[in-house]
Amino acid sequence: MAWNALYSSAFEKIRSRIRNVGRVLLAYNTNIDAVKYLDGGDLERRVEAVGKDEVFRYTDELPERIENVHQLLGSILWSIKRGKAAELFVESCSTRFYMRRWGWDELRMGGQVGIMANLLGGVYGVPVIAHVPQLSRLQAGLFKDGPIYVPRVENGKLKLLHPRDFSGDEENCVHHIYEFPRGFTVFDLKAPRENRFIGSADDYNPNVHIRPEFHEHFEEIAGEAEVAIISGLQTLTKENYHEPLETLRGHLEVLEERGVPAHLEFAFTSDEKVRKALVDMLGLFHSVGLNEVELASIMEVLGNRAIAKKLLTNDPVDPVTVTDAMFKLAEKTGVKRIHFHTYGYYLVLTGYKGEYVRDALLFAALAAAAKAKLGDVRNIDDVAKAMDVPVNERVGGVEEALAEQYGMREGIAEVNGHQLAFVPTRIVVRPKSTVGIGDTISSSAFVGEFALR
Ligand code: AMP
Ligand code: GLC
Repeated sequence: MAWNALYSSAFEKIRSRIRNVGRVLLAYNTNIDAVKYLDGGDLERRVEAVGKDEVFRYTDELPERIENVHQLLGSILWSIKRGKAAELFVESCSTRFYMRRWGWDELRMGGQVGIMANLLGGVYGVPVIAHVPQLSRLQAGLFKDGPIYVPRVENGKLKLLHPRDFSGDEENCVHHIYEFPRGFTVFDLKAPRENRFIGSADDYNPNVHIRPEFHEHFEEIAGEAEVAIISGLQTLTKENYHEPLETLRGHLEVLEERGVPAHLEFAFTSDEKVRKALVDMLGLFHSVGLNEVELASIMEVLGNRAIAKKLLTNDPVDPVTVTDAMFKLAEKTGVKRIHFHTYGYYLVLTGYKGEYVRDALLFAALAAAAKAKLGDVRNIDDVAKAMDVPVNERVGGVEEALAEQYGMREGIAEVNGHQLAFVPTRIVVRPKSTVGIGDTISSSAFVGEFALR
């Protein structure tokens, strides 16, 4: 069957069943994304005003965190030069003030939890319970209508409320997102592809601050959930990771006891110690989602340098190398589902079998195309309309390699007692925005599977 036909049949199946999925628990990171679409002239003037030489120092190597405006502008240029995403914590108040005055074009829901809550609850109608470290009025206003809940404790009793009914007056956790399109030019730097730099003016999410309701009532909260998605651990450092990871371990044990499968959204974790600690905990998860850079970074800490290098050399990434890496990770950790996504295709390795695993990927690819095209997916019809975005033709070689190596047909193969599923994705040539596409892919595929089980 041609991919278009597989796409529409998967979409129809999941659309009709997705509301049958029980509650999804989402923890831990939610914030406000203040998105600024960069203007070349404006950026050049800002760089000149503070001193070009000093700023350009950071285009070769990112600082660890942002302590002044030079570092902020230099880090933005670092991202543009490479077409790569990066995110740094903004420590200095004066730089936070500079970013606020620079302004933004739109305020959007941010953080993996926030983005997934709006998509699953607000668009798909799947009930979610979200961890929101700080519920300000602005933050609450970014949640869509729908079955989205946050826990509140009243007289020792747990209640689940829509974030707007929580009436919180806590702090604003703002992440400034500087987006640029492919070909964006500033001085002699030209972006090889669209991407963004994120400066997090936020003291809660970067430290994985966990709310008292989640410390004190987790068993009850977990008892309300059918599946869980964990994210937001990527910003931890060797200085602050112990406590949050111990809390996470406790949470995972509770979820396990209650038979709630958990997915880890593995964003790029620059601290190697934290990355290693997360890999050591992967066996406690049912599933993990990652891209080529993240998979390579895991191969690095597992001592497989050659594979790590190969994962970063070819574009599109060689699927046989990806499969080898996924097997290594599965063997090492025991995680039952590994979902890999890259520009152009997705692969998922599972310890169980069924076409529904591939169909969930197709659904996710439609949702991703809608997100890339619009920046925000408003309703399920937006997802349906992404059928207009053509299926990526650049990955023909990927499909052939999988057929040759594993005898794959229609995106499914059996390899060493596991199932390997593949889909070519739909690529939006001029995306509105790049933030949150990965979250859209991983949550749609994971929850899509449960809709079809
Ligand atoms: P992440 O790297 O986790 O932020 O996720 C980005 C993913 O989004 C990539 O792996 C691609 O699969 C997908 N993606 C990026 N750009 C586009 C685009 N223009 N159209 C469709 N999907 C995209
Ligand atoms: C990270 C960023 C957040 C952004 C999200 C998108 O969590 O901190 O600002 O919305 O990634 O995936």
